[in-house]
Amino acid sequence: MNVWLAFSSPRICRALGPWLPLILFAGCSGPQSALDPAGSEARIVGSLFWWMLGAAAVIWAAVMAIAAYAGRQRAQPWSDRKAGRFILICGALLPTILLAVLLVFGLRLMPALRAPGEALRIHVQGEQFWWRVSYEFPDGARIDSANEVRLPRGVRTEFVLTAQDVIHSFWIPPLGGKMDMIPGTTNRLVLEPTQSGRFRGACAEFCGTSHGLMNLEVAVLEPAAFDEWAQQRRTATAPPPHPGQALFLAHGCNACHTVQGTPARGRIGPDLTRLSERPSLAAGTLPNDAASIERFIRDPADIKPGARMPSFTHLPPSDSADIARWLEAL
Ligand code: CUA
Repeated sequence: MNVWLAFSSPRICRALGPWLPLILFAGCSGPQSALDPAGSEARIVGSLFWWMLGAAAVIWAAVMAIAAYAGRQRAQPWSDRKAGRFILICGALLPTILLAVLLVFGLRLMPALRAPGEALRIHVQGEQFWWRVSYEFPDGARIDSANEVRLPRGVRTEFVLTAQDVIHSFWIPPLGGKMDMIPGTTNRLVLEPTQSGRFRGACAEFCGTSHGLMNLEVAVLEPAAFDEWAQQRRTATAPPPHPGQALFLAHGCNACHTVQGTPARGRIGPDLTRLSERPSLAAGTLPNDAASIERFIRDPADIKPGARMPSFTHLPPSDSADIARWLEAL
């Protein structure tokens, strides 16, 4: 049923009424809220939002007051001069002043949003429907990952954003504004997280059937914890022996996926190195456990319509279970 039609029913309004403030304010906090900033850029965008909301409220109240005043007046013709002056002041002068004040306020905030990053650069490429992530360190070393970014708290990190197929949009609401990812173009965004914790980003541009299933896990770590993690990842070690590894290679999963420390070097699909450290699977779609990994291997399109990965329903169940257990333990 149409949502607005539902609200036009008095019974539904009475039932929902007391909960409406709760529903409205639910968006004000949480790991994916732009109104609960955890980074300097988000704080700037947030303050712009509150100032614009305040200005809009003042204008709304003024218009309502004028409408109420007009409703009480007896109808009488105005002279051309009086009417002209009224239109000039209320229709041109006041809106121009208000919009100019908001424009100057917004422009003043922009330089801080475009300041260059410090040491860390993270390349993120939008794919249908996941995120290809590659950390670039000042010494040229790289760490590849997917669907998750780890950031050191208090460091201005530069994101280099591109797309492989169609336009996506990179958005981590608690850390900053959004930036389009356009095939053939490189866009840059600088973010400085000010709070450690787990946050969630999302693709903010319709990019195909599973656009709504393209989320990004974000972990902001204390700088020492980030350095320790990066050091571990830079020294790639072979995963412990497991029958799943041989099956992963035998069934050709390595044609698309990389697992550091093994012969799997595919670049088409997400890098699966250290998959266990990611909180979710398939870009925030499934919990990260062996059962979900196996479900995804057998029929990706059932979980993520339009996903490029073919289904592997022909695998013997014991093989897909072994591969899933190996990936879960990576
Ligand atoms: Cu990618 Cu929407």
